[in-house]
Amino acid sequence: MAPFVPSKILVVGGTGTIGQYITASLLRAKPEFQQVVLFTSPGTAHTKAALLDKWRADGLSVIVGDLTSEVDVTAAYEGVDTVISAVGRGGLLVQLELLRLAEASPSVKWFLPSEYGTDIEHNTDKSPHERPHQLKLKVRNYIREHLKRVKVTYVVTGPYFDMWVYPMPDAEKAGGFVVEEKDAYVIGEGDGKVGFCTMWDVGKFVVATLQHPEESFGKALKVQSFVVTPNEVVAEYEKQTGSKWNVIETPLEDIRALEAKLWEEGNPRATGTTLRRIWAEGGTLYVQNDNELLALKPEDLESLEVGVKKALSGGYRADVF
Ligand SMILES: NC(=O)c1ccc[n+]([C@@H]2O[C@H](COP(=O)([O-])OP(=O)(O)OC[C@H]3O[C@@H](n4cnc5c(N)ncnc54)[C@H](OP(=O)(O)O)[C@@H]3O)[C@@H](O)[C@H]2O)c1
Repeated sequence: MAPFVPSKILVVGGTGTIGQYITASLLRAKPEFQQVVLFTSPGTAHTKAALLDKWRADGLSVIVGDLTSEVDVTAAYEGVDTVISAVGRGGLLVQLELLRLAEASPSVKWFLPSEYGTDIEHNTDKSPHERPHQLKLKVRNYIREHLKRVKVTYVVTGPYFDMWVYPMPDAEKAGGFVVEEKDAYVIGEGDGKVGFCTMWDVGKFVVATLQHPEESFGKALKVQSFVVTPNEVVAEYEKQTGSKWNVIETPLEDIRALEAKLWEEGNPRATGTTLRRIWAEGGTLYVQNDNELLALKPEDLESLEVGVKKALSGGYRADVF
């Protein structure tokens, strides 16, 4: 049998924070794929009309519909062989039905669920109990129990460097850089390594995954742009700004206490604080990542230097697709 080559790709959640990088990267690589289709909601089709028009000119097909409608999703799956989901946290469980319909579809062969974060099965003692992991674990469990025919790949990126550099309001201590004040918040002594991905590299890794189906089927691919300590990031900020920064260290126990308080208050920053604590504890470190399996070398990816340069010149919020 001829090896599987993705040809008609459907993206859901492709207008979101990370989905935009994935959609834009697929369009850049489009000559490789026969068709790239975006499924989007009527609300987003309205609010992001200019972006969708630009993407249409770049070769994107757009379907407007309701992601929770069996009729709409079944119609969108017609002729599609690969589904990429980048739905937001609020939509993670919508994927159970998307997966059920993919399994029932005559054409869908491969599904990449919305992950693009920490490896939720990094270790058996801690990861399964982390609160932000619960919905993605439910999706993985559903896949184990119900998907027999459709292949699945999880693209596990660790934290987005572009976002990690911004401190979260109410939880600044959990990490980040305030350029105006030259304040750098680090957890502990800032010397624990963290594996980062930049947001454009997430798109690159998804495209590379599609270029390596056989190597990727059934795997949680751990991909990283660079692995550095927060202190190395501080040093890069100091180099690029030509000035000394104030490093504010917060012990892990204080971050755990902050985390508990935010969860108790129902503060939306709780998720981010827990994730930052997991990353600071080494939750993104592997004996080996899967960059090589996808044939991506350091020179193909963004570096710490590039990441800081972009952060200092407006950051991801200034990105244009
Ligand atoms: N590693 C990190 O640092 C990091 C940071 C942020 C996010 N992530 C991960 O990246 C993935 C995507 O997150 P995101 O922040 O990019 O998503 P987002 O911007 O919140 O949402 C992405 C899109 O999902 C679609 N969607 C459909 N139903 C939805 C629902 N019920 N709730 C929310 N969105 C819905 C919407 O697109 P349409 O309107 O076009 O249908 C929306 O624009 C998630 O798995 C998240 O955990 C990782």
